[in-house]
Amino acid sequence: MPMKKRRLSHLPPTAVPITSNDLLAGLRSSKETLEQFRIALASYFGISGDACRLASSGRTALYCLFQGLKARRPARTQVVMPAYTCPAVARVVVDLELQPIFVDLVPETMCYEPDGLEAVVGEQTLAVVLVHPFGIPLAVGETIALAHEADAVVIEDAAQAMGARWDGQPVGTRGDFGLFSLGPGKPISTGGGGITVANDAQATAVLDSGWTHLPEPSNLVSVTAWMRQAAFQLAFQPRGFWAATKMGLHRVGNHESSWGYTVQGLTAMQAGVGLALLPRLDAINAQRRRKARKLQEALGRSPNLRSIFVAEKAEPIFLRYPLLAASEEERESLYEALWAAGMGVGRLYEKSLPAIYKPGTQASFPGAETIARRLLTLPTHHNVTGDDIINVKVVASA
Ligand SMILES: Cc1ncc(COP(=O)(O)O)c(C=O)c1O
Repeated sequence: MPMKKRRLSHLPPTAVPITSNDLLAGLRSSKETLEQFRIALASYFGISGDACRLASSGRTALYCLFQGLKARRPARTQVVMPAYTCPAVARVVVDLELQPIFVDLVPETMCYEPDGLEAVVGEQTLAVVLVHPFGIPLAVGETIALAHEADAVVIEDAAQAMGARWDGQPVGTRGDFGLFSLGPGKPISTGGGGITVANDAQATAVLDSGWTHLPEPSNLVSVTAWMRQAAFQLAFQPRGFWAATKMGLHRVGNHESSWGYTVQGLTAMQAGVGLALLPRLDAINAQRRRKARKLQEALGRSPNLRSIFVAEKAEPIFLRYPLLAASEEERESLYEALWAAGMGVGRLYEKSLPAIYKPGTQASFPGAETIARRLLTLPTHHNVTGDDIINVKVVASA
């Protein structure tokens, strides 16, 4: 079967179906919109309004959360996190003069190596971060038990997983805290933005102290953020993304300079867009799941590609569809073939976190290194067509 290459069009790796009405809702916002968005989110997650806080990005929300945790437990200086995840998460930890402690992952499940976690969680541990990768919910029970035994907290990093559930319960609401991102390409996007939720009264008190000094954004920041979102919306259309790839703009997020963040609040305009999108989150995610199922069928039992394990109780949203290629060479050749056909395939983070942050231990991280070398992600969004899925089938069976 021949490939059907896209012409003057390239699928982005992720996308959200944002309409001009959603953007207009941002322009019509007022100061009260921020509070309305916060309450609407809390109701979506099934928590009290008080337990939900907003910030200008997921990184900022995490920064404020760590500030609150640090103030409460100044003697604890270590944050345990996966050896393969978004490098900006470790950057926030380092910025606060905390020490990231990396734990290896099992590539087939993206879960912590159980022995690895047990070996590092202890008296110095402030928090354990558990990431739900690509919108696939992971089990949290054992991690919570281990962390609580050491009197540390668990932060569920659901930046890529808003709307995913475990046994019917939204991810991010099972650990002590949950983190979500409203950045470009996330489950719903306001062009930038972050949310932290707390799951009991004690954890809510931590948010109170972490958010005390968060500056409000100026009018200029508000307007710039709205324009940025409008520009992203164009760039995340297949024609816009094609133009962006010609200018090399699709590589911007890979660079360390893009990991920085500003410590300030979310703007009312962004909250207005978020408030317009939130009622459609479940429908947008259901659509992603349907595409993921079609991709899975198209891939069949390809000997060169393996899907990531999804537990029975997990209801994933598949922000991207992740695969592990049999080798780095295989990954590269699949990447090249699908990219040439106009598919927004991704390699995600090119290095493990220990390779970037050089923790100075003798420990090795073979699972994380394997993921960095062999991971390939496929888009699942509304712009993926039947022809794109046929292309995946052709490439996978070649
Ligand atoms: C797993 C994970 N955590 C945290 C973040 C940070 O979110 P933000 O980009 O909103 O700062 C990201 C962003 O890509 C992420 O993928």
